[in-house]
Amino acid sequence: MSTQPVTQCCNLGPVRRGAIVRITLIGVVVAIILTLVAVLIPWLPDSASKQMDRIEFIYWFATVISIAIFALVMAVLLYCVYKFRSPPEDESDGPSIHGHTGLEIAWTVVPAILVIAIGVISAVVLSQNGDKGSNPMTVRVFAQQFSWRFEYPDNKGVKSYELVMPLDRNITFELESADVIHSFWIPAMGQKQDVVPGIHTSIVITPTRLGNYTLICTELCGLGHATMRAPASVVTQDDFAAWVKKKQSSAGGGGGSGKALFASAGCGSCHAFTPAGSDGAIGPKLDNVAADAKKAGEDPAEYVKESIVDPDKVLAPGFQAGVMPGSFSDTLSPQEIDALVSFLTAGSQ
Ligand code: CUA
Repeated sequence: MSTQPVTQCCNLGPVRRGAIVRITLIGVVVAIILTLVAVLIPWLPDSASKQMDRIEFIYWFATVISIAIFALVMAVLLYCVYKFRSPPEDESDGPSIHGHTGLEIAWTVVPAILVIAIGVISAVVLSQNGDKGSNPMTVRVFAQQFSWRFEYPDNKGVKSYELVMPLDRNITFELESADVIHSFWIPAMGQKQDVVPGIHTSIVITPTRLGNYTLICTELCGLGHATMRAPASVVTQDDFAAWVKKKQSSAGGGGGSGKALFASAGCGSCHAFTPAGSDGAIGPKLDNVAADAKKAGEDPAEYVKESIVDPDKVLAPGFQAGVMPGSFSDTLSPQEIDALVSFLTAGSQ
């Protein structure tokens, strides 16, 4: 058997032009495949805010760098695996080699520059995305297991269980939690911020696209976490003014429909109630709440009202104290509580 000549692979002696051409070709093919995966699959939701535009820029900046580095490494690796493979019966060790100072400096300095560039751009975007700008509009956000509530101090103090945002305004969200840590996130708006009991956190969003979105709680906060969502919409500034006016005129009146409140205040996340079409199983089923009141010798309306404002006073069998928030008498207006009570007593037996 003839002895194999020692292959001059790794001491980077004379590298032939043919090898460089082949490595470059492999790199281009790998880069094209990766680019197609990055571009053709919708990894991110379509941006609906200025902040999300900036966040998307960082994603693409980092993705382009990653594709280039990955393609280079894979090209050299694939070429070497094929070109310098050993014949099946060759079990000898490869030649012992020492490092290559120039190459080591290059593969330390180039990635360091790229990582620093990503860090600097991220810091700039973080600072821009935290900038309230001039004349911001404030929306106060109250989170509790398992619902969201909004107050508009700059717009006559209007209160709402749906988030309505005017187009192209810098909106500062002031976040408060009544119980545990929640997290405020509208995916298409990019920004995400924890809502922590005891401290005030805030976040800025400038909506740039009309439409309906969903505010999602993205911090595991208890059994109803997955259902802790609120409708969020972006409307024109005229439509926003009209919405504020409508909200303001209805605030002192009926308090809204009980059915709408049941959904928006998050009742359906925990309670099954046929007229509301909800099937939550964290709290007691409410279809027989009027009958239960009569059995206990109480007026159904009083019984339901007490269960909303002081939920731990009388517990349904099999359910624990401290699960339902006791804060609804603060977060709902008396009119809203009355609307809920009539919805519940009318819809149950
Ligand atoms: Cu609130 Cu998860």
